[in-house]
Amino acid sequence: MVEQELAYRIHGGEPVVGQITCLGAKNFATKAMVAALLADSPSELFNCPPIGDVAITRAMIEAIGATVQALEGWLRIDPRGLHTSRVPVPDSGSNRVPILLLGALLHRFEEVAVPVVGGCRIGERPVDFHLMAVERFGGEVSATAEGYVARRRGRLKGAVVELPYPSVGATETCLFLGALARGRSVIVNAAIEPEIIELITMLRAMGAVIFTSAGREIRIEGVERLSGTRMPILGDRIEAASWACLAGASDGDITVRGINPNILGNFLAHFQQVGGGFELLDAETVRFFRRGRLSPAVVETDVYPGFSTDWQQPFAVMLTQAHGISIIHETVYENRFGYLKTLNQLGANTQLTTSCLGGLPCRFRDHNHEHSAIIVGPTPLRADGNIITIPDLRAGLAYIIAAAIARGVSIIRGIHLLERGYGDVAPRLSQMNLRIERVPVAALL
Ligand code: EPU
Repeated sequence: MVEQELAYRIHGGEPVVGQITCLGAKNFATKAMVAALLADSPSELFNCPPIGDVAITRAMIEAIGATVQALEGWLRIDPRGLHTSRVPVPDSGSNRVPILLLGALLHRFEEVAVPVVGGCRIGERPVDFHLMAVERFGGEVSATAEGYVARRRGRLKGAVVELPYPSVGATETCLFLGALARGRSVIVNAAIEPEIIELITMLRAMGAVIFTSAGREIRIEGVERLSGTRMPILGDRIEAASWACLAGASDGDITVRGINPNILGNFLAHFQQVGGGFELLDAETVRFFRRGRLSPAVVETDVYPGFSTDWQQPFAVMLTQAHGISIIHETVYENRFGYLKTLNQLGANTQLTTSCLGGLPCRFRDHNHEHSAIIVGPTPLRADGNIITIPDLRAGLAYIIAAAIARGVSIIRGIHLLERGYGDVAPRLSQMNLRIERVPVAALL
């Protein structure tokens, strides 16, 4: 049976007011599922979000022999049946997990083959650091028409890996490789995103010996075996910041549950600087609102603890409502502003430039990538039954925020991309006062 395409229909224009609970973080849940494969006994994960990426990862690890049981946010992963090291792309699509499996499975199998990695199209997204890491640990990597094959002879050996950039994925690959390698490993210039720290906690609970330090250096003393553990998935900081921007952009008042405010770091400072306010209600509940009219901002995305590249899109929608000229310099991905064209169609006034509009060191200087944005506000957004199509996951939520503040009806297509990372979006948002429905596209055309 052909599945019918669904879209969101949003009636916008009112301040969004109410309460919403953050789901578990996509960018830890899928990594925890990979970590579970390193053990020789089952692991249980709690607070797993009901999202496409978890389903894709589940299909991928089941295809190679893991047994997965699931019940409302609980996942039990038994890696004992892993029997093949040829990872297929499931029918449901692909994400960034295959490249992580290359290192993680190489302890168990002497040869691992993974398909070319997918994920959102927001830049080139090479995997050279992952491949370099596998080789430093003693593996040999070759590229094939379908993806990559890694081989080893004997046990992987601890290594010193200096990452050219603090890549989240490559740091995870090094953690997976180092945890069971023989001897000591050091990751220099490692990523220290909260989801990485969470992964380290999970690996430690499985028996890994991992030391963090004040700099971006992680030391791992390899162990012989890891056993299964129980691990909750932390609340999604990208979601939380997006709901804050929804409150700020719509002049609403949103209480966000299930988020540790510490991991929102500098977002809270930027939010306050533009005129947003927040109140801590308890250890995992933050109320977001606006303190008056919004002011413009200059923001540069960066690795943690900087302003996350995944906060950039909802923040940009909020800046369309700020009084003055704002600037965003994107230094993590070279091609993450495609969605601004659509915001302009809705009435925003934004412009892109290939120049670096900021002071951070930037790998995209002089490379002709449109990676700085100028946003002139405030501009009311209009929805005249416009149909807008989501280009990537984070832009998708930005479109929902844009549709929520635009007076009138918006239709948002391509929602499968958004639902890879956000679960139960329509029911959760309609529990506040936002009118959002998930309807068959055929009924709208
Ligand atoms: N990079 C390389 N070579 C590599 C790996 C990365 O040049 O081998 C570059 C990338 O091209 C990029 C930069 O390093 O310019 C950072 O990439 P990173 O490896 O940190 O990103 P990732 O691990 O692929 C994760 C998240 C992204 C998030 C980034 C940055 C997952 C599944 N994805 O990606 O989230 O933006 O870290 O924090 O964890 C999203 O969720 O929508 C998303 C894109």
